[in-house]
Amino acid sequence: MSNTTVYLETFGCQMNELDSELVRGQLSTLGYTFTDNPDAAQVVLFNTCSVREHAESKVYSRLGIVSERKLAGENILLGVLGCMAERDGLSLLQRFPQLDIMCGPGELDKLPALIDAARRSEAATAAERTALAGNRTRRSAVLSAVQDDLETLDLSRAFDPIVAGRSAFAAQVRITRGCNKFCTYCVVPNTRGAEVHRPPDHIIDECRKLADAGAIEITLLGQTVNHYRYEHGAAVTIDGREAAQIGPGLAAFRAAIPVGKRVTTFAHLLRRIHDEVPAIARLRFVTSYPRDFGRDILETMRDCPRICRYLHAPAQSGSDRILKLMNRGYTRGEYEAFAAQALDILPDATIAGDFIVGFPTETDEDFEASCDMVRTLPFKNNFIFKYSPRPGTVAIERFKDDISNQVKKFRNNVLLNLQTQTSARVHAAWISRTVDVLVEEVCTLRDAQPTFGSVELRWEQNAGKSTQTGRTTLRGRTAGDLIVSMDTPPGANASDFVGKITPVLLQQSSALLLHGVLTAGLVAPPMRLAKAPI
Ligand code: 5AD
Ligand code: SF4
Repeated sequence: MSNTTVYLETFGCQMNELDSELVRGQLSTLGYTFTDNPDAAQVVLFNTCSVREHAESKVYSRLGIVSERKLAGENILLGVLGCMAERDGLSLLQRFPQLDIMCGPGELDKLPALIDAARRSEAATAAERTALAGNRTRRSAVLSAVQDDLETLDLSRAFDPIVAGRSAFAAQVRITRGCNKFCTYCVVPNTRGAEVHRPPDHIIDECRKLADAGAIEITLLGQTVNHYRYEHGAAVTIDGREAAQIGPGLAAFRAAIPVGKRVTTFAHLLRRIHDEVPAIARLRFVTSYPRDFGRDILETMRDCPRICRYLHAPAQSGSDRILKLMNRGYTRGEYEAFAAQALDILPDATIAGDFIVGFPTETDEDFEASCDMVRTLPFKNNFIFKYSPRPGTVAIERFKDDISNQVKKFRNNVLLNLQTQTSARVHAAWISRTVDVLVEEVCTLRDAQPTFGSVELRWEQNAGKSTQTGRTTLRGRTAGDLIVSMDTPPGANASDFVGKITPVLLQQSSALLLHGVLTAGLVAPPMRLAKAPI
């Protein structure tokens, strides 16, 4: 399919970004080329998110624009990938008859065939242009985990950063797909299906190949990444190889490993990657489920210096009553106990998360409990969302969305302000320390911006060049995911630092970031050691 240019836009989470990377790699190897300009593309694809209504609205407006171009006679192939396709199903096709392709997140391996069918014949039936798991998502999970076509897509990913469309030094590896938690507000268990765990050897192999292609930071991805558990021998392909397998039930998860069974837990997996892929200078993981954070994981993090001490573990609410209605499976006290244990074992750890405000029936008192949690726990940052009722979830069926938008907005702002104060305190505690920073980009500070201080700084990305009016700074992250800005040393070429880990003395802080000076110039990434035996 050479000479076909594709525009692919991604909405939502890191999981979607990884899916887009895989789609890009898959289509590139088939001869498609990619463009950043939707007007220059023959195929326009939106990889969508259904978690909140707001994310969907953005896609509707994009679809409207491309549909109009099609109506005006432009020959474009238009596709919706991801959770909106899965959630909205054929009603999306009815709303946008110009839509050529629909492909759910569990069916992305079929995308080239769908594009082919749609291109070959304008008259292709909706069924030929649509791949959705539909009700099968959960029902046939046992079967599909063994025959898992998505595993093939993960395994066949492109390791060339240019083809894959990612930066050379930071990469993501999926370890689980789907989710079994069924938080009552969340659409993910419906759109992404049952939790499936990838075989550890596949994951380690992928990490090794990414390291060979230049990655020094790998982020392991899963909806509840610390729930990972792989029972060896339980799922094999017909030729005897290990296959992805359905996640264990709750009882199995915290129970001891049964006699005679070989199990790779999340802690084992972290240690294996850390030990077997030494070229990875930073091993990170998101998102964690607070209840599943066993001591074994925290101790493994303590013992493995290249595992980043960053815990993204969404609390969602500080009210036990609301947590129960959300089906989160823990109380505020249990979350606080997890945070205390984490900071006891890993004193340098940073904790971050998500909160939802305005969940049905949330009273001022419930909200105050969330505020109190943000005031008292050292959260580095929290993403704060207004509750958004999602079709297909338990919450939309069971509870009236009875908190007005005005109140949601107000609570959102109050919690954001509190978080800003907490973030400022967390950042200030790092001043005078020297930390390793992975430099990610060169930025230009606009002249109009105040010098570093209490006012938040904004950067203007400038493709590695300084402008006449701006001051060039470097921007990067610590192992604990704290954002750091640094001035470029006099005479140095700023872009030489990008993708490198360098020690920085932290001197100033704000709610958003830290500012420091490079103390030892460039430090080369860790030496590539001889490969450890598999
Ligand atoms: N409304 C608001 N926020 C939601 N999230 C998930 N579903 C909803 C919803 N229906 C938030 C949660 C989750 C994050 C990814 O999105 O905080 O952790
Ligand atoms: Fe959604 Fe809860 Fe699963 Fe996270 S853990 S993806 S919020 S159901």
